[in-house]
Amino acid sequence: MSAASVIAVVGAGQAGVQIADSLRQEGHEGALVLIGEEPHAPYQRPPLSKKWLIEAGTPGSLALRGPEALARRQIELKLDTRVVAIDRAAGELRLADGARLRYDRLALSTGSRPRRLSVPGASLEGVLYLRALSDSSAIAAALRRCAAEGKALIVIGGGFIGLEVAAGARKLGAAVTVIEALPRLMSRVTAPIVSETFEQLHRRHGVDIVFDAAVVELRGTAGHVTSVCTDDGREFPAGCVVVGIGVVPDDELALAAGVACERGIIVDACSRTSVTNVVAAGDCTARRLPDGRLLRLESVHNAVEQGKSAAAALMGRERPFCVTPWFWSDQYDVKLQMAGLSQGYDQVLVRGDLHKPAFSAFYFRAGRLIAVDSLSRIPDHMLAKRLLDHDLSPTPEQVADPSFELQSLLKQTA
Ligand code: NAI
Repeated sequence: MSAASVIAVVGAGQAGVQIADSLRQEGHEGALVLIGEEPHAPYQRPPLSKKWLIEAGTPGSLALRGPEALARRQIELKLDTRVVAIDRAAGELRLADGARLRYDRLALSTGSRPRRLSVPGASLEGVLYLRALSDSSAIAAALRRCAAEGKALIVIGGGFIGLEVAAGARKLGAAVTVIEALPRLMSRVTAPIVSETFEQLHRRHGVDIVFDAAVVELRGTAGHVTSVCTDDGREFPAGCVVVGIGVVPDDELALAAGVACERGIIVDACSRTSVTNVVAAGDCTARRLPDGRLLRLESVHNAVEQGKSAAAALMGRERPFCVTPWFWSDQYDVKLQMAGLSQGYDQVLVRGDLHKPAFSAFYFRAGRLIAVDSLSRIPDHMLAKRLLDHDLSPTPEQVADPSFELQSLLKQTA
């Protein structure tokens, strides 16, 4: 494969931009086309459920790389462009407007989309999802309307999206009820002690939270949502509804082109797919672990690191992505930072002040540290990432002893 061949990157989010940037750093000198279906230049998504809801900004303030920065690197940006099929035999992408685009090597960074609610009334106006900049702007406007008219926001799903939007809505003065299907908040990713702390935090800010509730119907007047009904017979009046019940990876394009997929495009540690010269990175992927399990990570950090390894793989180099995953969430004045993956833990120990709250939850499996959630304890988070990166584990006794300096464990790496 000549270094001057054409590489196409489908999807211009965090992972796509990283792949394109890294390809230039890795020495790709040929044509490089970055294709995005949205009209905006690539932008950061994390603020969309946080600051962007409250502060009226300009799309430019969210820019990941402006068109000029991409042009300087000779990355051709095609916006408002939807790829509808990959013709592998011809080495072409088919675009929605009928045009074809030739490629030699391909990177897929198609992302994910919100899982839709499938109950009667789910398509009423005022039922909103959050993924793109336009979604966030629509939610921001709806929250302001709710606040002005004294109507409530009903949030369906007590995960990252739902809780960040709930916090934003309270800042804007709207009444908020969160309806969660399970018995606690953020249960996909955190221990009960962290869930309970966030429950108290939201309740202190005036959010009503309903657990173990199944939404069975949305009702409306003149095509606009007016209430949310749950299976226990309750009806919650709503000025608008935000649904945050998880995401679905956008892997249909890959699947139709014969690339192996299973709840995402299957990639190895170097972001290679089942097809030669096709790599994938970000939310659209599911990584095959050495023990055969599939791991899906939905985070900026994952998009960036997989993007780097995908670019290297397209240049014929192996750059396995093996650093500790991390995530964060801002709710009111509490910063939640998570290092590692806590799934499968058998012990949780807490350091810090539960009431402030400013503490860290240390997750252990069989006596070894696997993850740390820190609430407004940034130094703990930094330390946790370094310990996990170096496969260093304090003992549970050391974590339980507040006088033990966890930092001292890092001396072994100096
Ligand atoms: P999520 O998986 O974090 O939370 C979904 C919540 O909805 C869960 O608590 C689940 O039990 C609940 N749920 C599912 N079906 C339900 C139903 N029918 N009725 C009521 N509750 C139901 O997904 P979320 O919040 O939608 O976030 C989507 C994506 O955005 C994720 O990939 C997330 O990682 C990402 N994101 C990350 C942020 C961060 O890292 N700070 C911030 C915002 C989004």
